Amino acid sequence: TKRVLTGITPSGTPHLGNYAGAIRPAIRASVQPDTDAFFFLADYHALIKCEDPQRVARSRLEIAATWLAAGLDPDKVTFYRQSDIPEIPEFSWMLTCITSKGLMNRAHAYKAAVDQNQAKGVDPDDGVNMGLYSYPILMAADILMFNAHLVPVGRDQIQHIEMARDIAQRFNHMYGQGKDFFVLPYELIDETVATLPGLDGRKMSKSYDNTIPLFEGGEKLLQSTINRIVTDSRQPGEPKDTEGSHLFELYEVFSTPEQAEAFKAELHDGLGWGEAKKKLFERINAEIAPMREKYNDLMANPDRIEEILLAGAAKARQISMPLMEQLRAAVGLRSPH
Ligand code: TYM
Repeated sequence: TKRVLTGITPSGTPHLGNYAGAIRPAIRASVQPDTDAFFFLADYHALIKCEDPQRVARSRLEIAATWLAAGLDPDKVTFYRQSDIPEIPEFSWMLTCITSKGLMNRAHAYKAAVDQNQAKGVDPDDGVNMGLYSYPILMAADILMFNAHLVPVGRDQIQHIEMARDIAQRFNHMYGQGKDFFVLPYELIDETVATLPGLDGRKMSKSYDNTIPLFEGGEKLLQSTINRIVTDSRQPGEPKDTEGSHLFELYEVFSTPEQAEAFKAELHDGLGWGEAKKKLFERINAEIAPMREKYNDLMANPDRIEEILLAGAAKARQISMPLMEQLRAAVGLRSPH
């Protein structure tokens, strides 16, 4: 059996990038034969970049409801919240103690913060908390705790999975005594998506404020946000270049190859951008409208979400508790029994 695992940080409203880059491929992977799936809310990760308790609380519900609306079956998938698994931070500490500082110095998120500070001429570590710095270690703990083989993610997470592999190898080497505690995890990238562009063509991201919300705000907000996609100034009747057009890229991600070809031909024939946006809205909405009702029902019933998450955590802990006992013994904190 293959184990598939992925998480989403509840620090904002789920957007099309989360859906196409992680949720959709993860759910597809979870229904493959001989697959055990572990999907979770990375709520400890949310504390790193979000100091607003209400936003975390709201986002937690939105992301849980999104997973369930998108087709996650909590009877088949182990679906939980990171902070319900106390073994994860404990394990994360063990991993922190075997991870070199140099490895963390190379992490993209930390380096980006340092680069920005340097460009501004302020202290390189300005505004960098230790959570951000050791973020990839907590993520390694998430992945290794459940011995995941495959981690469906968008391209921005690849480096973190590489680091999880490094850390797993090091732990195996230091404490394995000939047996491997951990399999080496690999990213599962949907090559047709990899990095979904946002309104301005940069990667769709909460931090760029260029996201298209998945369910929140309903059809209306979906449509009005799509209308804000930046295009070139070509007028209706003028042929449009689909090469490098992020509007076209978005369309492709939500359509069959045939539908995308037809849309491309229309753009080459001079379809106006206004019309193109309408078609893009219709395409995306066709995929997500059937899920929206379920999303709204769940959002109106937070107790139900809580119940599902707690049941998932109980399942997850049947794995994390015995593993943690072994690990405590392996590093010398307890006697083996
Ligand atoms: P997060 O919450 O930033 O993003 C969740 C998932 O959405 C993907 N994603 C995208 N994919 C394609 N195009 C985009 N524009 C786009 N924006 C976001 C991300 O690649 C990610 O897969 N650290 C993780 C959460 C995490 C995790 C883990 C993931 C914590 N522990 C263990 C896997 C395994 C994060 O902050 O993702």
